[in-house]
Amino acid sequence: MSTVTWAPDEPVPQMTPRPTGGRKYKGDLATGYEAKRGGSAKWKSEELIVREMLDSLPAATSILDIPMGTGRFIPYYDERDFDDVWGYDIEPEMLWEAKEKLKAVKRPKCFHMAVANITKMALADNTFDVALMIRLERWLSKDDRTTALKNLQKWTRNRIIFTARVRGRPQVPNFSYEDIEAALDGWHIARDEVVANDEDNRMIMLEPVAC
Ligand SMILES: C[S@@+](CC[C@H](N)C(=O)[O-])C[C@H]1O[C@@H](n2cnc3c(N)ncnc32)[C@H](O)[C@@H]1O
Repeated sequence: MSTVTWAPDEPVPQMTPRPTGGRKYKGDLATGYEAKRGGSAKWKSEELIVREMLDSLPAATSILDIPMGTGRFIPYYDERDFDDVWGYDIEPEMLWEAKEKLKAVKRPKCFHMAVANITKMALADNTFDVALMIRLERWLSKDDRTTALKNLQKWTRNRIIFTARVRGRPQVPNFSYEDIEAALDGWHIARDEVVANDEDNRMIMLEPVAC
């Protein structure tokens, strides 16, 4: 299915040289990532919305989670028995944390992870049923956000879920509705939810335009 694969009980491959463009999530930043954010209203709100947006899907759904980070949604994917979950991240150390979560899942062989850059990786068209791109927007340039969204539309068949800061302070990169609309190619915004009562922070769900 993918160009780079990683079986759960192998070490995550290193990318050398480290690609530019990603923020460094290494060492304590990786191991402490969830401890720092896990209880926040924004975190909880995102998780509730993701659960709700994936609620109706059958177990036989292939999922692309990029960036998977420390695998915050792995327990939920496991709870739902999704049988084909692929997590990618530019930082191996984030995936090491995600890999730890596989010790507690029912079927670790349903999970695959690999180091990859969303703007550079090559996947076949229509590889996945559903794609999630959560909390990546502010770590990409405006052009890379567009590239990432266009890539997800190529790789995904049914549903794309992503976070977007649609307005905001000038120094905080955002993913405006204009940028999103301009990147859409045969897809439309099917749902648009406010995250944690903050109108600037959205969880957006795309679906293909019906014929
Ligand atoms: C704020 S974390 C979000 C992780 C996860 N989606 C979550 O909600 O917890 C941002 C992640 O994006 C990854 N990242 C940054 N640039 C990337 C890129 N170009 N391609 C893939 N992952 C990237 C970082 O390594 C980090 O794990």
